[in-house]
Amino acid sequence: MAKKKATDILSLIEADHRTAEKIFAEAEGAKGAKKMQECFDQLYKELNLHAYAEELVFYPAMQDHEETQEYIEEAEEEHNSVKILLEEMKSLEIGGSEFKTRMMHLKESIMHHVEEEESEIFEAVRGCMGEEELMELGQEFQAAKGRMEAEVEESLAKR
Ligand SMILES: [Fe+2]
Ligand SMILES: [Fe+2]
Repeated sequence: MAKKKATDILSLIEADHRTAEKIFAEAEGAKGAKKMQECFDQLYKELNLHAYAEELVFYPAMQDHEETQEYIEEAEEEHNSVKILLEEMKSLEIGGSEFKTRMMHLKESIMHHVEEEESEIFEAVRGCMGEEELMELGQEFQAAKGRMEAEVEESLAKR
């Protein structure tokens, strides 16, 4: 049972969310531009890959169930504003005041979005998708992230 759970899509999404929170905490304690740069690069990759995989796999599955359709629009809008922020931050001076302001904004947006996904959205998903579907979606979610990795790396390199 424990092994099975590791690949259902909700567990994978949760694990990604915890990773993002960990990086935000590291960024807060970062001393020096080098460490902050590392944290930002990690956030850029993790958040873009996660958002992409959700948009490609999770949200379309939610579209297939009446109970979950209503959550998609807002979630996608939140993804878009996060992506815009990440692109803006890419070319800012690391650790400068504009960068810091956007980093705070980014963290707030992510916390809000994560909280919504893990409460309301997960509850609605659990109410209409069975274990088998969630496991299949988990595999697709992993695969989508894998496919996108090189592209995200490339776009991070374009500063
Ligand atoms: Fe998410
Ligand atoms: Fe999301």
